Amino acid sequence: MQNEILKIAKDINFFLKKFITNQKKTELINPIRYGLFPGGKKIRSKILVDIGYLFNIKYSILIIVGAAIECIHAYSLIHDDLPCMDDDKIRRGKASMHIKYGEFTAVLAGNSLLTMAFEILSSDYLKLNDKIKNNLINNISKYSGHLGVAGGQFLDLSYEHKKVSKQKIIEMQIKKTGRLFSFCCIAPLIIKNKTSKEISFFEKIGEDIGLLFQVVDDLIDYKGSSLIAGKKTKKDKKLGKANLISLLGYKNTIKYMQNKKFEIKNALNKYGSKSAHISNTLDYIINRNK
Ligand code: IPE
Ligand code: IPE
Ligand code: MG
Ligand code: MG
Ligand code: MG
Repeated sequence: MQNEILKIAKDINFFLKKFITNQKKTELINPIRYGLFPGGKKIRSKILVDIGYLFNIKYSILIIVGAAIECIHAYSLIHDDLPCMDDDKIRRGKASMHIKYGEFTAVLAGNSLLTMAFEILSSDYLKLNDKIKNNLINNISKYSGHLGVAGGQFLDLSYEHKKVSKQKIIEMQIKKTGRLFSFCCIAPLIIKNKTSKEISFFEKIGEDIGLLFQVVDDLIDYKGSSLIAGKKTKKDKKLGKANLISLLGYKNTIKYMQNKKFEIKNALNKYGSKSAHISNTLDYIINRNK
């Protein structure tokens, strides 16, 4: 598992370096590189590769789609750390983008990374037909905007210091984190022209994996070490974030996490031994400390 994810991270970084090197140089290139490299765990891309394996998608295609996803994820973290959002000074074990380069550069490097995802998916590097590429871009755009990451981040910030119901917390976490995971889960089906019924099934699986991932992130904030996590922990309480821990308590959140993992594994059982990879990734997600 550890070797697999390290290989995916290496291959995606290799592609992204090549992609950027072939672009015209600008003043934003260094901040963009700072936001991408060495980068994070690449867990979203691991999920994409695991689901891609269920549908026999070529690894080299998945790496390019994964690169686009990681660009959007990197942008979301740069903006998440801004003073007007979570105001965090450390990210991935180094100074946050706005600490290193200043606020306007962080906003604009973030914007550039968001749009870089669309450049990658529409580029000739991705050897898929135009209809499929268009479909991928349509879905990743939808999941990044107000129906997904941006909308969820808006709710996350609006809910600070408020008492929010469990259903509303889950809905917010699915938007801010789950929808990008949904994209990872449906991209292989889009590539293979699967039916909308099958796509809906994997859309829901992705939402649940993203929710699980965010719940564990919240647990790491609650109990984890800043040094290991590479970002400041014990901040959500100070910021008055609405999450399952603040609503249900630590122990009930652990139970929620375990049930959620069980539910997802059960749903994927029908894919037999091929689902062992995704199953291992789910174990990795809940056992991680960074
Ligand atoms: C952190 O995501 C932000 C959340 C959505 C919880 P990751 O934990 O995947 O961050 P990196 O990419 O590994 O730094
Ligand atoms: C971030 O959630 C979700 C995003 C879409 C970026 P958090 O605010 O909990 O992520 P961290 O803990 O700062 O990485
Ligand atoms: Mg946040
Ligand atoms: Mg944050
Ligand atoms: Mg967090």
